[in-house]
Amino acid sequence: MFQTMSVPSQASLETKLPINVRRCLSKLLSSDLDFHRDASNLASHALHAFAAKFPPQLPRVFIEGLTVKGETVMDPMMGSGTAIVEAFLCGRRAVGFDIDPLALMICRVKTHPVDFLEATWAGKRVLGSAVQLLQRADFVPV
Ligand SMILES: C[S@@+](CC[C@H](N)C(=O)[O-])C[C@H]1O[C@@H](n2cnc3c(N)ncnc32)[C@H](O)[C@@H]1O
Repeated sequence: MFQTMSVPSQASLETKLPINVRRCLSKLLSSDLDFHRDASNLASHALHAFAAKFPPQLPRVFIEGLTVKGETVMDPMMGSGTAIVEAFLCGRRAVGFDIDPLALMICRVKTHPVDFLEATWAGKRVLGSAVQLLQRADFVPV
């Protein structure tokens, strides 16, 4: 037997929000949310392409306007994790979900802290191997 779930209307959701949150949300929604001229390649945001990413400034406006440092931001359809990265950059905790395994992988990489020295050594090792390969007499470039 099917069980039906009633989806709350926009109006009922809005009235369930505390008045101060409603006021704040309404102010944020009526502010200038056009970020076309802003850079979107800051931090780890441009690490990998992803369809329908939103500009990092968009979640930032709502994260800063609706939460305080230490609070948790949740994005149930996080895609490549733009909101998750912004939450971390704003000093919030974050949790995200997505049904797309590629989205999960991209977000995991974008939010993984990289040790600078370790990354430098790894880069040097890769360059060293490439130089050795190029110097081999039998090396044939493909
Ligand atoms: C427009 S993208 C989000 C992009 C994200 N804001 C960003 O900047 O990368 C929407 C995401 O919702 C995910 N999605 C769609 N239906 C879902 C569901 N039922 N549960 C979890 N994720 C879902 C898709 O896989 C997709 O990654």
